[in-house]
Amino acid sequence: MRLPARVTICEVGTRDGFQIEPDFIPTEQKVEVVDRLSAAGLPRIEVTSFVHPRAVPQLADAEAVMKRIERRPCTVYAALVPNEKGAARAIAAGVNAIHTVVSASESHNLANVNMTVDESLAKLGAVLDVAARASIPVGCGISTSFGCPFEGDVPLSRLESVVRRLVDRGARALALADTTGMANPRQVERVLDHLMPRFPGVEWTLHTHDTRAMAIPNIIAAMEHGVTHFDASIGGLGGCPFAPGASGNVCTEDLVHCLHAMGIETGIDLDRLLEASRRVQEIVGHELPGQIVKAGPFTRKYPLPEAVAARLGR
Ligand code: COA
Ligand code: ZN
Repeated sequence: MRLPARVTICEVGTRDGFQIEPDFIPTEQKVEVVDRLSAAGLPRIEVTSFVHPRAVPQLADAEAVMKRIERRPCTVYAALVPNEKGAARAIAAGVNAIHTVVSASESHNLANVNMTVDESLAKLGAVLDVAARASIPVGCGISTSFGCPFEGDVPLSRLESVVRRLVDRGARALALADTTGMANPRQVERVLDHLMPRFPGVEWTLHTHDTRAMAIPNIIAAMEHGVTHFDASIGGLGGCPFAPGASGNVCTEDLVHCLHAMGIETGIDLDRLLEASRRVQEIVGHELPGQIVKAGPFTRKYPLPEAVAARLGR
């Protein structure tokens, strides 16, 4: 395997994850989770989104969360925005980076942001301008890059045309999002083989959902193609309210555990991450899909049964 020595993980649990939780999570608990994540060494956190509060009531407190979090110098605090209004709110709230969203498929884009793909791309052009004036970097996410829950297959030519229009408009960081966990490793390879040589200056991120248990295999396939930026969600929280059948992102601590086991650095403290995950589980009040919280890391050892110890003479 040709794997990188180090990767950068962006935590999206407090946005992609919390947005689908039915009960409103109090602002101070959201702040606590962000602070625990930055203390664990997360280099990048998508803290919240600046969208219409009617569309995502859970994140209606975006300004208050941004205001109250403790800013650590080694963490980039980002937020998701769908349009210029969102960008202006995010910049006023002091984000260090903006993440935008448009879908590769027309139906998901309409369901998600009530705009055609063309309308969204026009709005995102304005977002890029507003952000450039404020010297805020922008990462452009492309939902349903590997398939759409309404349309099924999303042709690669379609994805390529969205990528091209974003790049032509000045985007330099792009996130390919597998919104409902439809991608498989061979497909990730095919998509990256197609796009990476055509858009050489782009920094690629893979945003996975583990809906069909293919997230980590997909991340490994992407790493073999030189991708070193990945989104993940604490505890495996997550899902898009506007994509039926969506479920959580790849679980941050499970991914970090897997990467560390393979000798790939993340700069993240796994023990602190596991503590954060347990706390998030308390906050949301239900079990989360993460495995390492339950199993412990692969280095965990159990006491030897007495009879076995006796036979071994210990
Ligand atoms: N934040 C707050 N309010 C916003 C806003 C934003 N980012 N963008 C638009 N609005 C307001 C407008 O000011 C307007 O307010 P008014 O009715 O008081 O005049 C109202 O929303 C309607 O504006 P319009 O541009 O027609 O928006 P819309 O109703 O078509 O909704 C979105 C479009 C994008 C704002 C909305 O669909 C949305 O927020 N979607 C979020 C989707 C999401 O987060 N998905 C999960 C992430 S993948
Ligand atoms: Zn997502």
